[in-house]
Amino acid sequence: MATPVTEPEVVRVRVAGKVNLVLRSGPKREDGYHTLTTVFQAVSLFDEVDASWAEPGQFSVKVLGDQADLVPTGEGNIAVKAARLLAATAGAGRPLGASLVIRKAIPVTGGMAGGSADAAGALLACAVLWDLDISPDELRDLGAQLGADVPFCLAGGTALGTGRGDQLAPVLSRGSYHWVLAFSDGELSTPAVFGKFDELELGKDPQGVPPELLNALVSGDAPALGRALTNDLQAAALALRPQLARVLAAGTELGAVGAVVSGSGPTIAFLAANESAAVDLSVKLSSEGLCRSVKRVTGPVPGARLVV
Ligand code: C5P
Repeated sequence: MATPVTEPEVVRVRVAGKVNLVLRSGPKREDGYHTLTTVFQAVSLFDEVDASWAEPGQFSVKVLGDQADLVPTGEGNIAVKAARLLAATAGAGRPLGASLVIRKAIPVTGGMAGGSADAAGALLACAVLWDLDISPDELRDLGAQLGADVPFCLAGGTALGTGRGDQLAPVLSRGSYHWVLAFSDGELSTPAVFGKFDELELGKDPQGVPPELLNALVSGDAPALGRALTNDLQAAALALRPQLARVLAAGTELGAVGAVVSGSGPTIAFLAANESAAVDLSVKLSSEGLCRSVKRVTGPVPGARLVV
């Protein structure tokens, strides 16, 4: 009798990118980081991370998608670092290894936490693959060691981030928001944008979240949210990439109710009043030819989740 062929086990996790609805930053700290007050919203642009067994001590990654060539595939890959960290901590003493495959849709170095999303995806996928006894809180603490945005990528939704952006508290948000994302050619490195921010001495003492923004989220009021969007890193991103100012102006002229550079950029997030306004804006913005591509998404959406 023929031996049945069993497929190798693959655990697949889907993980969303984010936009920052508000990002306020203090000056550079002694550890090189900046103290932030930010509100994240996870949006429906997803990377997928697959994990399958490999020989003990072996960790590899393959990256697929339009911008795959921009992602390192060796030990410098943040998803590989995540799998190794998990194996060395929660999996210590067990013969663990993993082959990872990442399908990228979140722009690389685009200000939408694409790398952090892949780290979050790898943590969850490997924890399930290896059947580790680890709580969501422990997974989040490991995530914070990999990058400031990783805890949010695990959690998703809408959340207040303080500290380096890694201390999270939920934010009440009603309804769904319609975003049009403008992706730019080329990357904008987060340390370079923070470096410009420091050079321009833009860091201010810690400030809270504008109450108008929290009120807009509670009432599900897109135009009010649009008016309250703010990012202290935007001036630094524009100083490094002046052509982004044209994209911001174009989206606003074409009817966006809000416009902001996402995180350290160069992605720009335009808020539309409703779904049909978002369709209209994305078509018109695409035809302007000012950006690499335009994508419509909604938020908030959940964070890293198993795909069944
Ligand atoms: O934490 P993560 O590795 O994603 O951060 C990338 C870089 O962004 C850091 O090395 C630092 O230069 C900058 N950063 C910062 N302050 C933060 C978060 C990030 O200066 N709160």
